[in-house]
Amino acid sequence: MKAEEFLMKASDLKNPPKLFGFKTGVPGLDDMFYTVEWTDDRPVKKSLGGIPAYSVVNLTGMPDTGKSLIAGQFAIKQASLGYPVLFVTTETPAEFLIVSLKYRAQAMWIEWDDVKDNIWIVDASRTSTLREDIPTLLNVMEEGIKTGGTHSIVIDSITGLFEDREMKARSIVRQIYSFAKTHRQTTILVNQKRSGHDEISPEAAGGFAVAHIADVNIVLWKITVMKKWEVDLYKAPIGSLVRFIRIDGCRVSGHDPRTHFFEITETGLAKVGPVLGDEDE
Ligand SMILES: Nc1ncnc2c1ncn2[C@@H]1O[C@H](COP(=O)(O)OP(=O)(O)OP(=O)(O)O)[C@@H](O)[C@H]1O
Ligand SMILES: [Mg+2]
Repeated sequence: MKAEEFLMKASDLKNPPKLFGFKTGVPGLDDMFYTVEWTDDRPVKKSLGGIPAYSVVNLTGMPDTGKSLIAGQFAIKQASLGYPVLFVTTETPAEFLIVSLKYRAQAMWIEWDDVKDNIWIVDASRTSTLREDIPTLLNVMEEGIKTGGTHSIVIDSITGLFEDREMKARSIVRQIYSFAKTHRQTTILVNQKRSGHDEISPEAAGGFAVAHIADVNIVLWKITVMKKWEVDLYKAPIGSLVRFIRIDGCRVSGHDPRTHFFEITETGLAKVGPVLGDEDE
């Protein structure tokens, strides 16, 4: 190992990545990321219009909070814009994943035929070697990136890669993070929470490992309205289900830190709603 390979002057670094947004296909989410531009010596906030390019996003939540919907909408949106996506499925077999992606496309008014050639699937759901041997998985993914010319990666779920061996979570996520960076792929890692985790924290399977490594943490959660004061706060009747979304942290761009209502429409389209506690809404 030569020290020169690792030692550099900041000014020698060429081609630093540009800051721009990758559209998610989730109405309201893209504008929660912003950048600051200086005009007339004044900082002006400007929407990034998507998740920061080349970032690795940790998307966490309990079961049925909408993680897979967001992941699917992101894939469909990117594919519809002509940017191929690599979709790694660790739980749902490919043929079932396709059924749900078709529904996502339908809900987004996008023709499945227009996007299907831009979605490359790695089916790791049936082969334990792919889930357990990370270098093997990364080889297959690299092949997918090269063949498909992909710009982004979705892994649903990253939790599927460290079932039964959570103490390895940090090293597994670290390998995937560095792989995504090397190949300049904007990446969404779906990370499942268990009941032991604080509902509104980014902690999920693998403890805080994933949250610490990822560039962006997005948390989804839901509650059932059971108390009178909740009726006022959430503006929803007793017994109803209320969903929320929050960007818990983003180290690559500015972000809206507020808790927003989160909605899943009848057609299964996930979208961001108004800010919780905002009286104007
Ligand atoms: N096609 C659809 N139409 C209407 N609602 C839907 C549709 N698909 C999903 N939903 C609703 O969205 C919820 C969230 O689904 P999603 O699959 O995104 O959950 P998840 O967070 O990925 O959960 P898990 O951790 O179990 O994978 C579902 O429980 C369901 O209520
Ligand atoms: Mg899911």
